[in-house]
Amino acid sequence: MARNPGNKVVLGLQWGDEGKGKVIDVLAHHSEVVVRCQGGANAGHTVVVGGRKTVLHLLPSGVLHEHAVCVIGNGVVIDPVALGQELDDLLSGGCDPTHRLKISDRAHLVLPCHRAIDAAQEIAKGAGKVGTTLRGIGPCYTDKAARHGLRCGELADWDAFGARLRERHVAANAQLVALGSPPLDIEAEIARIMPALRRLAPLVADTAAFLHQSVGTGKQFLFEGAQGVMLDIDYGTYPFVTSSNTGIGGVITGSGLSHKQLGEVIGVVKAYTTRVGSGPFVVELDNARGEALRQRGREFGATTGRPRRCGWLDLVAVQFACRLNGVDSIALTKLDILTGEPEIPVCVAYELDGRRIDTVPARLEDLARVKAVYQILPGWTEALGSCRTFEALPKAARDYIRMIETTLRVPVRWIGTGPGRDETVVIP
Ligand code: IMP
Repeated sequence: MARNPGNKVVLGLQWGDEGKGKVIDVLAHHSEVVVRCQGGANAGHTVVVGGRKTVLHLLPSGVLHEHAVCVIGNGVVIDPVALGQELDDLLSGGCDPTHRLKISDRAHLVLPCHRAIDAAQEIAKGAGKVGTTLRGIGPCYTDKAARHGLRCGELADWDAFGARLRERHVAANAQLVALGSPPLDIEAEIARIMPALRRLAPLVADTAAFLHQSVGTGKQFLFEGAQGVMLDIDYGTYPFVTSSNTGIGGVITGSGLSHKQLGEVIGVVKAYTTRVGSGPFVVELDNARGEALRQRGREFGATTGRPRRCGWLDLVAVQFACRLNGVDSIALTKLDILTGEPEIPVCVAYELDGRRIDTVPARLEDLARVKAVYQILPGWTEALGSCRTFEALPKAARDYIRMIETTLRVPVRWIGTGPGRDETVVIP
């Protein structure tokens, strides 16, 4: 099978919200096939084009590019109602991507019971809640692993699908009651999602077969990661993670293509760190400086609107993510948000019980005790929005980038200096 070295994978290397949407949007210009491989409507990719802000949750960012075929792969969990709303939003802006959108017949459906169970489980966990996006992601992947999920391909037989849908909701109602939550009105819920399912059905295809054919014709691919490596179900800060593999493994299992087709792996890193939801956060700034970063960086969830927790750049976590995923280059986003900081601490190691470590411990109890070891770098005061070359950046900003490259031993090839498509420095 022909390989195309121009293929690109974009992965978030922190806790999601790294600004992948903009990077993907810029790269999608040169891609013929854009593929989402995992996650679901928990993701929120914000893209600003011509001053108009678009937030994509399920649809690959390629939808905004007329020439790109967009694939929602088998590893994604699909909420038909959320998908319908997203398509409507695009239609109201004059963009109809349906003729170039393909949804895997192996992808699992997020059903009303999944959202209800997500909420009921969070309530039942009380103070120990994960802080999920309440989009039904965990319960849908649970059904997939338990082998009683419903897949998009089953929409080919409406009668059989309807029977399984009812059966699944009867069982889910028992689970909801056991969790102390009210059961769903099954018929009302089914009536509510049916129009969205009928709209989705014509888009369902054997996307793995389509991708294999496209590889054969030398088409250029872009694989679009969702969430971030530190939210990975295996390597993230478990159990405060999402329910899919957010790294390179998820790209392979969630698309149906082999590792040989992946091309360059681009890791997206925000110039500081944020996370939403619960869980340990070594570099957290639970103070006025954290609040200042949140306001300047507009750090409020694209999916839930929740304020994001903010902290300095954690290079231990980013290096861990680079090692796990064979990252070839870094896209550094939101560097402009650090403008005006008199000095910028960067976490270069962790200290655990007086011992210095350079990796992320698996045990939550250890991670909660870890202290950040900071290297302090000088800040800059100049606005970065008009910088178009590396040399045009202030010296302190260049030093910040060089320090990141030296520590990670991965080149920074792309720097975000503002929200717009053109507010970008590309280093050849
Ligand atoms: P879930 O994916 O909704 O189950 O949420 C699990 C954890 O992942 C929670 O801490 C969420 O806040 C977080 N999470 C899920 N999706 C995203 C995302 O796209 N960006 C940032 N955090 C996310």
